[in-house]
Amino acid sequence: MKKDWIPVLLFATTGLVVANECISARRQKKKDDEAYAAWLTTHQPENVWSGSASSQIPNSTERGRLIQYGHDLIANTAQYLGPQGAVAQISNGMNCQNCHLKAGTVPYGNNFGKVYATYPLFRARNNGVQTIYDRVKDCFERSLNGHAPDTGSREMQAIYAYIQWLGEDVPKGTRPPGTSIMKLPYLDRSANPSAGMLVYKEKCSSCHGKEGEGQPSPVGPGYSYPPLWGPHSYNDGAGLYRLSNFAGFVYNNMPLGTNYHNPLLSEEEAWDVAAFVNSRPRPHLNQDNDWKVVAKKPVDFPFKPYTDTFSEEQHKFGPYQPIKEAQQRTK
Ligand code: HEC
Ligand code: HEC
Repeated sequence: MKKDWIPVLLFATTGLVVANECISARRQKKKDDEAYAAWLTTHQPENVWSGSASSQIPNSTERGRLIQYGHDLIANTAQYLGPQGAVAQISNGMNCQNCHLKAGTVPYGNNFGKVYATYPLFRARNNGVQTIYDRVKDCFERSLNGHAPDTGSREMQAIYAYIQWLGEDVPKGTRPPGTSIMKLPYLDRSANPSAGMLVYKEKCSSCHGKEGEGQPSPVGPGYSYPPLWGPHSYNDGAGLYRLSNFAGFVYNNMPLGTNYHNPLLSEEEAWDVAAFVNSRPRPHLNQDNDWKVVAKKPVDFPFKPYTDTFSEEQHKFGPYQPIKEAQQRTK
């Protein structure tokens, strides 16, 4: 967790010592407390989780080296585990950090801030309790359209160690602001793939390519700009295939270089471009074993069956509010 307020506190404390000579320490303390409280209120929106830089990893110890390896696997997955991976060839050439920006440290950048504090947890998709290993395996099989290394492998142990190191300061069971992906408000219309195509052409294709194919890195495995659809992209069982996740991720992080302080897309553009990209072809995953309790499917889950009467089309593109209300009525 960022501790931006430490210098302010130090400054305030130094001020207190000097001021003691002229006014009573008590009055000054009250003033300091008030100033600190006022400072806190104006800084609340900044109080989001962001992860420590990898330069802070204590890599002189055995455990530190494992954490560092976990970081490197997340940052350069293709190099180790991609189609020409040095350790195994079990994933699609993308890196974890293409979607978990800067190795899972960026506020609202699909970061890992709450993972260690909240897992194991019950997940409706699997209808069971998921460990961190299970969750990482899911991303290998869906987002990286491949297979995970065994839980006992040095690779999985390293990824676990890194996620633990990043999140071990977060109190158990809490979800600090700024973790994962921001939930955008629903549109009151359906998201529109044709409008999204125009957004894509204007604001995305220069990097991600005319056909969403991305651009391979000139200096080795992985991409300079990762693919958004086609055979080398995430499959239709991945988290980003749901429009709410895609729109929330893109709104705060794309075009690359933007962040949650300065979103460059409107919320409507984010939903529409999500609709366009997730209407293009991509690998299919058999999901027959997911969502055993059909009523627990999220409103924007785009595959039948449902317990309500809304179409697959409306579940995919919205409007979602009527579905949400129908779900709440039957609860
Ligand atoms: C194509 C994008 C993409 C890639 C690549 C990807 N992930 Fe994910 N990952 C997601 C999305 C989206 C979610 C959130 C999904 C949801 O909430 O349903 C997620 C969730 C997670 C979570 C749970 C986060 C939480 O707060 O509960 C972990 C842990 C995780 N991913 C690890 C990994 C690892 C490790 C890799 C690489 C082996 C990886 N992911 C690759 C998109 C991706
Ligand atoms: C300036 C180049 C650039 C532009 C423009 C850009 N992106 Fe990206 N995008 C990237 C890079 C680079 C990454 C991978 C980030 C990393 O690995 O650090 C990325 C990652 C992504 C990802 C997650 C990884 C994947 O391939 O699925 C999505 C989704 C995405 N961008 C969508 C968009 C959309 C939608 C737009 C247009 C609104 C857009 N991007 C515009 C450079 C760009």
